[in-house]
Amino acid sequence: LPSHFTLPSGSRIPSVALGVWKASRGEVGQAVQAALDVGYRHIDDARVYNNEEEVGAALLGSGVKREDVWLTSKLPGTYHDPQDVEKSVDESLAALNTTYLDLFLIHFPVALFPENGTYNEALTENMFPTWQAMEQMVVKGKVRNIGISNFNIWRTQKLLSHPNITIAPVINQVELNFFNPQPGFLAWMKEHNILVEAYSPLGGEGQVGKTLGLPIVQDIATHLDITPAQVIISWHVQRGTVVLPKSVTPSRIEENLKITRLPDALFEKLEAAAVGHKPERTLNPSQRWGLPYDIFD
Ligand code: A2P
Repeated sequence: LPSHFTLPSGSRIPSVALGVWKASRGEVGQAVQAALDVGYRHIDDARVYNNEEEVGAALLGSGVKREDVWLTSKLPGTYHDPQDVEKSVDESLAALNTTYLDLFLIHFPVALFPENGTYNEALTENMFPTWQAMEQMVVKGKVRNIGISNFNIWRTQKLLSHPNITIAPVINQVELNFFNPQPGFLAWMKEHNILVEAYSPLGGEGQVGKTLGLPIVQDIATHLDITPAQVIISWHVQRGTVVLPKSVTPSRIEENLKITRLPDALFEKLEAAAVGHKPERTLNPSQRWGLPYDIFD
């Protein structure tokens, strides 16, 4: 399986990252250290995970060269005002102890007022000013690649087809797992040259046990003499996505980096099982944010 994917910009992005959402302060640093020690070269972070300082300190302390690590961060909803985008990047750069990000994503297609976190309809309905400020970050050299996260096909299409776009998003990071495999979405993004990244690839905290316990996953694991988590993580990369398994447990961190091509018949069987049931999404903040609609519809 590919250890990297190549983006339209020519950048090579490692196919397996350490996900650090929900890796709290006090535990995330040792997780990053453990990951770098066993060969991870891709950390997927975000300003709102509230752990960039500790991730940055671990990177600095690891002795691994900055240019050998792929670092992603994301624009919070409260920084969508075009004037705030650079501020957000600068805050992430300072916290992560670095002068550039490999990838910067709009975290959600939803703008929130910085004062109180409530829904900003104008900046949400027209996301292009925010995107232009993202493009400026590439022009200024603070960010190498820009992309989006949690954008459905409709919103991605709306952004891509804007007449004044100068840099198309190269990545869309979304929830993808056995219970929410989104095959049509994947095909559409591929057709439009947008590489997809899978968050909550094991099903997230709530569904990881159920996912790894599935008889089909267990059977494939036994057959190939690998672990259930390795079956699922390999399946993601074989589907053509970057995969971002989260763990703060060193033994699991090591386990999750070892991916193997599944024989075609087993891959097809797992794919058919995943797409063969009603999809269930584990994360949807639409209601919590008081939106008058569902962002994934
Ligand atoms: P922990 O961080 O305590 O090791 P996802 O990547 O889909 O969001 O899933 C994250 C959840 O899966 C976390 O609860 C994490 O626990 C757990 N997890 C990560 N890797 C493995 C693994 N190899 N085996 C079992 N559970 C895992």
